[in-house]
Amino acid sequence: MTMRAPKWLSRIYQRNSRVHLALAPIRHGLVALRNLARPGDLHQAWGTTQLNRRPKLMKALSEIVRDEAGVKVLSFGCSSGEEVLDIRQYYRHATVFGTDLNRKSLKKAQRLLRGTGVQLFVSTDENIQEHGPYTLIMACSVFIRHPEDTHTDDISTLYPFEVFERGICRLFENTIVGGYLLIHNADYRVTDTRVGPRLRPVRHGELVQNPRVPLFARTGRKLGVTGYDEQLFRRES
Ligand SMILES: C[S@@+](CC[C@H](N)C(=O)[O-])C[C@H]1O[C@@H](n2cnc3c(N)ncnc32)[C@H](O)[C@@H]1O
Repeated sequence: MTMRAPKWLSRIYQRNSRVHLALAPIRHGLVALRNLARPGDLHQAWGTTQLNRRPKLMKALSEIVRDEAGVKVLSFGCSSGEEVLDIRQYYRHATVFGTDLNRKSLKKAQRLLRGTGVQLFVSTDENIQEHGPYTLIMACSVFIRHPEDTHTDDISTLYPFEVFERGICRLFENTIVGGYLLIHNADYRVTDTRVGPRLRPVRHGELVQNPRVPLFARTGRKLGVTGYDEQLFRRES
């Protein structure tokens, strides 16, 4: 079942903060339902992506996490697979995986990635665990509710910190000790979660939050922070 809103409706939705904030939870619930997922397991519900979206970030990352046989890289929230194809350009010896909750996006990804040796699977706890643990997990523009986050100064109802924290802890558990988590463009700080003390931020000039994505405190209150550079973390224990 496809549910595509007419362009004029989509424009009102994007531009009007009150409409946007009122409809977002309904849309979120519908997306979760369509994908047989619990709403609390779904983070960003929009699947926007593109090929070669972050070339500088990918290059920086590949210099920190080397491409070698035995290395496992997971794109968490890979949408229709473009990001996985980008990863493949930099990680040719590693085993590369992509996962998403959205089954329709995954089907598109399957078509895009045919013949590349990449493995795709539906995002469930069991599937993530079965293919791991991973040397590097990338979650780019997944742990957000964007652009809804730009329309509000308090995101606690729309995207509670506990939902974010549960998602981060799940990825942490599936990362090897000495491995890396890239949580790029997120509404909350990874260091605020209970696994924060076991993660060491690795800073790099190209690993910086998009300034259009706001940052929130655990309470859900918007912080006036830009240029946030804690995106990559090494698991220390
Ligand atoms: C904006 S897209 C990001 C695509 C890609 N990572 C990029 O940055 O170009 C967000 C994706 O996260 C996915 N997502 C949200 N919650 C998820 C979850 N619990 N497990 C896996 N994917 C999830 C959505 O279905 C959507 O495809």
